[in-house]
Order: sequence, then structure tokens, then C-alpha cells
Amino acid sequence: MCDRRGSTTDTVHPEVSRRSVFGAAGGGALAGMVTACGGDEGDDAGSGGEQATDTPLITTGEVPVGEGTIISEHEVVVTQPEEGVFRAFSTVCTHQGCDVDEVSGGEIHCPCHGSRFSIEDGAPVEGPADAPLEELEVRVDGDDIVLA
Ligand code: FES
Repeated sequence: MCDRRGSTTDTVHPEVSRRSVFGAAGGGALAGMVTACGGDEGDDAGSGGEQATDTPLITTGEVPVGEGTIISEHEVVVTQPEEGVFRAFSTVCTHQGCDVDEVSGGEIHCPCHGSRFSIEDGAPVEGPADAPLEELEVRVDGDDIVLA
């Protein structure tokens, strides 16, 4: 694994949830706007490991439009390619398994060999990686984005 630097949120612990209560606040308008995606395709590129469904990852307000936020403790990067549309991907680079460490310019960056991935679908936009980041299914519950 690579070192984790910069634009990530606090500690590293895959199974620990920082928020156990969610859904009490309003924000129902966003609930139907999350894009579902397959996460059980059986790819062996690696992922953040098995994580319980309904795990709160981050709040909607913490994910900038046109960018994304890396949640190191869950090994997930959540993006918002357009307002109200949230996507989530494993942070594990499909090239050699480093963790992506930055989202900028509408792309997810791997520090090891320079691969960059689309925030829309995780597809590689710059190699050497030639496979997309594993997409994870998420939904909005109140103000939280949770693993579905
Ligand atoms: S491990 Fe990500 S570019 Fe090589």
C-alpha cells in the first residue's frame, strides 16, 4: 500500500462508523437522486473490504459538486459529478493497488504511478491503470450518504 497524504478525512479504520444516527434531519429531496451502481461484480481488483450496508460514509454537504472526498477509514471515495448525484468508488487503484489520495479537476488521482480516474464512473482517464475503480452502491439517507 502507499502512504496516505493530503485531502483525506481523519483516521484509518475500515469498520468503524463515525455516525451511527442518521436520517432524522430533512433532506428527503436528495433521497431519490442517488445513482445506484453494481458493487458485486466479482472483480478481484480489491476494494475497501466487506462493509455493512447502511454504513454512513459522509454527509452530502462534505462532497463538493464536480469533485469528491476520500474517506480513508472506509477506503471509499465519494464524488458528486453534478449537483445531487453521488457516486462512490473503492480507493484501491486498479493498477497495482495503491490508494488514490486526491480528487481535483474532476478526477481521482493515484499517487503511485499517476493514474487518474473519472469522478463520474471511475473509468481511467490516464494510465497506467486500464480498468475502472470498483464502484460501490450508495444512497442518500437524510443528510448522510450511506453504503446501500
Ligand atoms: S497503483 Fe495506481 S497508478 Fe499504479
